[in-house]
Amino acid sequence: MSDRKIVIFDTTLRDGEQSPGASMNMQEKLEVAQMLTALGVDVIEAGFPVASPGDFESVQKIAQVVKGSSVCGLARCKDIDIETAWEAVKAAERPRIHVFIATSPIHREFKLHMTKEQVLQNTDHFVRKAAALCPDIEFSAEDASRTELDFLCEVVEVAIRAGAKTVNIPDTVGYALPSQFAHYIRTLKTKVPNIDQAVISVHCHNDLGLATANSLAAVEAGAGQVECTINGLGERAGNCALEEITMALNTRRDFFKAATDIVTRRLVPASQLVSGITGLEVPRNKAIVGRNAFAHESGIHQDGMLKNAMTYEIMRPEDVGFQKTDLVLGKHSGRAALNDKVNQLGFSLTPEQVNKLFEEFKALADRKKEIYDADIRALVQRVLFKEITNVSWTLESYSSTSGTGKKPVTSIKLRRGDFIVETQSETTTGDGPVDGIFLAICQLTGLDMKCKEYRVHSISVGHDAQGKVDVSISFNGQEYRGQGTSTDCIEASILAFLDAVNRIAE
Ligand code: KIV
Ligand code: ZN
Repeated sequence: MSDRKIVIFDTTLRDGEQSPGASMNMQEKLEVAQMLTALGVDVIEAGFPVASPGDFESVQKIAQVVKGSSVCGLARCKDIDIETAWEAVKAAERPRIHVFIATSPIHREFKLHMTKEQVLQNTDHFVRKAAALCPDIEFSAEDASRTELDFLCEVVEVAIRAGAKTVNIPDTVGYALPSQFAHYIRTLKTKVPNIDQAVISVHCHNDLGLATANSLAAVEAGAGQVECTINGLGERAGNCALEEITMALNTRRDFFKAATDIVTRRLVPASQLVSGITGLEVPRNKAIVGRNAFAHESGIHQDGMLKNAMTYEIMRPEDVGFQKTDLVLGKHSGRAALNDKVNQLGFSLTPEQVNKLFEEFKALADRKKEIYDADIRALVQRVLFKEITNVSWTLESYSSTSGTGKKPVTSIKLRRGDFIVETQSETTTGDGPVDGIFLAICQLTGLDMKCKEYRVHSISVGHDAQGKVDVSISFNGQEYRGQGTSTDCIEASILAFLDAVNRIAE
């Protein structure tokens, strides 16, 4: 028997957009909707059309443009909501209206001022009205997880009889627990006589951090649709994250015997698109799409990963759209991970050189938490340079930016014999551009120097005159002088420092 299909209903543009700071303009919504279709989402809840003219327009535009996914509009049990939702979605290839009413005692009493009987009548009336307009109706019992189970069964039965093809069981306030929520789904499956005529859906909020766990428990109990959002956006603590539910079902297909149509390698780009548009950053340790989700730092983990990635990885980073596992090196990294990185960067070192490098690496790791490729490259080159004597340092190129209120940033590329070494601009900021270049040169040469004197003067006249820089540095208790000349004062400064550095080896 083949695995059953789980319908993925994305509500990033409706429930997600309701979260503070996540509002999007029409163009952005359209971009997200197109991304969702490419991602393989079955149903896109594009908005709540009656909420505002802007909401109506964007749902309508998405309905007109998007091909491949159903486009859904939300509606309360009100004539105006249902009519407006239909106007907005009717141009879609596959339109859906999502009708909801609250069913829990607290909502009935304080929000709706309705009896159970009135809730049942409203459900019947408005689902029928929507079904007369649109072939695909979803019904939601808002706050279902705090609704009496017998009453919930009655409401669901009425909604299906009135024409709902999907019945959604929201955990509106994120109150449910996995086993209790699964019990709700199992009870609906056994007690609602017409349940086989509809798909059971779940919509879980994350107030207790259980949205994905509750959704998975519901799937295990027989739910056929999961409502979710990219990056788990949504009211308060958000909704079940699309990337989490998808990868949990995908990775544990052996257990759930269920699959989605999500193109998983688009998950990271989708996450980045939504975070870029909303400005809501994805935490680094966020499951699946966080920057650290596939980064291994401990030496034991890195060693295991290099031997066989499956030792510490249950999913491949490329399957969710990351380029490759990011082995961030740090103070816990071992020799094997370091050597592997060195080889990846194109160097081949002797065992003695690796030993020397490892010592320097550990010293750097004590000062710097994360060590990137550029740092390793500089370390390797420094180890190799130490073996070269009587070869001068020369300047290959540089760039330097500074300005009022800005930290100067300098990048320098130096050559020594056959080796070229360069700084990353981010690592070399100082009190001014000259300070910046001096720090960069110390870093690149591996020499712990102090600048004792720095003088710049013009050696001719006019605005394009050459500048001459004289410096004096101290190293290991000795003083070394250097001079540099150029029409560019910064370049003259670099040449002066290198002149002094080259005297150290003499
Ligand atoms: O959380 C909720 O109950 C909702 C409904 C409108 C489905 O968002
Ligand atoms: Zn919700």
